Amino acid sequence: MTSHEVGAKAAMLAGLMCAVLCVALAKPAAAASDEQSVAGDAASGQRLAEKGASGVPACFGCHGGAALQSGAFPVLQGQTTTYLAKQLTDFASGTRKSAVMQPVAAALTPRQIADLVAFYSAGAVPTVTSTPPSVEQATTALRIATSGDPATGTQACANCHGARGRGEPPSIPRIAGQSRQYLATQLVAWRSASRANDAGQQMRAAAVGLTDIEIVSLASYFAAIPASDSAR
Ligand code: HEC
Ligand code: HEC
Repeated sequence: MTSHEVGAKAAMLAGLMCAVLCVALAKPAAAASDEQSVAGDAASGQRLAEKGASGVPACFGCHGGAALQSGAFPVLQGQTTTYLAKQLTDFASGTRKSAVMQPVAAALTPRQIADLVAFYSAGAVPTVTSTPPSVEQATTALRIATSGDPATGTQACANCHGARGRGEPPSIPRIAGQSRQYLATQLVAWRSASRANDAGQQMRAAAVGLTDIEIVSLASYFAAIPASDSAR
């Protein structure tokens, strides 16, 4: 056989192998997309979020409209299905403590959770208006967000959440455009370890060295970054 013939034979073999392999590979891919459509139906999730169901209050009562604009509740849109589903499971089990969310999450079936997170992860992120940071707050926040604080061992928020707080799918949440009050409450909770549902203690380690002034600065800074900001 000449080297040319060997090459042609190899190419033919490769073609044959592909004919076999490509069919084999196409199958699991199709199965996976079927699974996804069974996993969560955004339209059912929206109905449940807006109107509730027996034993399940409407999420919109707190996470939508005027209640959301009050700043007391987190914006759910703009987070991944993975992050949202984890929080609901953590609330239900008590791994993340909330007297308000525990009974709500515990009442949800796995199917309802899948539908709700399909709806929220795909929805446009509503803007919650908040007091912009002062110049001092913005300076403090930008320093910690981008460089951390070696003196207290605080890691730069950007290392995980991205420079502008957009989050890093699938597990690290968006903090840009989140309610200022909610961000501050969560940072205090991470600092005191009363919120302790972070794998590897990542957030407890990042928050333990923060002062009250730094927490308010970071919360004001990230809340004021428009949800439409696409930079990571
Ligand atoms: C009565 C008000 C209320 C209702 C109704 C409610 N929530 Fe909540 N939700 C809260 C509060 C308060 C928190 C913040 C808890 C905390 O302090 O950690 C929260 C937090 C969450 C979080 C965590 C968000 C994050 O960024 O980590 C998710 C997810 C969530 N709720 C989903 C839902 C869903 C889905 C529904 C509807 C089935 C719902 N909630 C109904 C008040 C409510
Ligand atoms: C080592 C990675 C890492 C670093 C550094 C980090 N975070 Fe986080 N952060 C996470 C992860 C992971 C979560 C989600 C934990 C969970 O599953 O509930 C989180 C969650 C949060 C939440 C809760 C969001 C919500 O919707 O409830 C806030 C607020 C937050 N981080 C702010 C910050 C700030 C501010 C900094 C900088 C001081 C920072 N993080 C640094 C990984 C990190």
